Amino acid sequence: MRRLTLRQFRVFEAVARHLSFSRAAAELHLSQPAVSMQVRSIENILGLPLTEQLGKKIYLTEAGREVLHASRNITARLDDLQANLAQLRGMVGGRLNLAVTTTVSAVATDILARFRGQHPGVSIHLDVSNRESVLGQLAANRIDLAIMGQVPGGLDLEATRFMDNPLVVIAPPGHPLARRKKVSLRDLASEPFLVREAGSGTRGAMERFFADRGLELRTSMEMSSNEAIKQAVQAGLGLGILSLQTLELELALKRLAVLDVEGFPIMRHWYVVHRIDKRLSPAAQGFKEFVLGSSH
Ligand code: PGA
Repeated sequence: MRRLTLRQFRVFEAVARHLSFSRAAAELHLSQPAVSMQVRSIENILGLPLTEQLGKKIYLTEAGREVLHASRNITARLDDLQANLAQLRGMVGGRLNLAVTTTVSAVATDILARFRGQHPGVSIHLDVSNRESVLGQLAANRIDLAIMGQVPGGLDLEATRFMDNPLVVIAPPGHPLARRKKVSLRDLASEPFLVREAGSGTRGAMERFFADRGLELRTSMEMSSNEAIKQAVQAGLGLGILSLQTLELELALKRLAVLDVEGFPIMRHWYVVHRIDKRLSPAAQGFKEFVLGSSH
């Protein structure tokens, strides 16, 4: 059986749009007999007439309307394909300037690795720092995108949530509270805490949580890295409050325990963020879609 060709679809679409062989021919820079011939060859293949002429006017038959519908679908799919390929071409050799907060860096690196696997042509610059610093880089328009916790309102930022970020209380496994069920917040109030530096989103969320409940934590030491806090907690210097996502290894190796505390985990979320007025490059747009597509 002879097959329909894309060219025949395009010619028929023009005829159906103009309801005129001569106007379709003019649009396609073809002669009118060439257009008629293409339409006739579709009719021969399908065994049905696609147009009928009443007086001077041309109408589509039912088969003609079906073919037009299919043809428009095919054309739309081809247009999509072209747009997607253009996006991919734009990404090759593109640059991505990204800033992520310390706490989300492991999650972000994992996403970046998978993105690079699909788009090896994109060169990536990654800055890892705390929440305050990432907000500063967005304000100064120094980065394309950020991955971080919830952003404050009124900053002209577009933030799209893509993943949960539960904060938990950690202790060394031998700590008396590690064996208790339903530890109360009052029990925590007498414990020394190791906290992140001012400017950290984790620290801010933890302080808000206790302030909202009229409580204050006893901070024994301030540290500017999650890793340092984990080590200090293991060494028995106090308790800590960190994102569960930073604790995978220590929990698997039973070097740390998560306490069962009322009101915990504090449920935070991760967002992809950029300035509302930012014109995202194909690489940045592609990465943003990739992150949102990889949400769990
Ligand atoms: P940070 O990250 O504690 O490392 O600043 C948390 C956030 O982005 O809010």
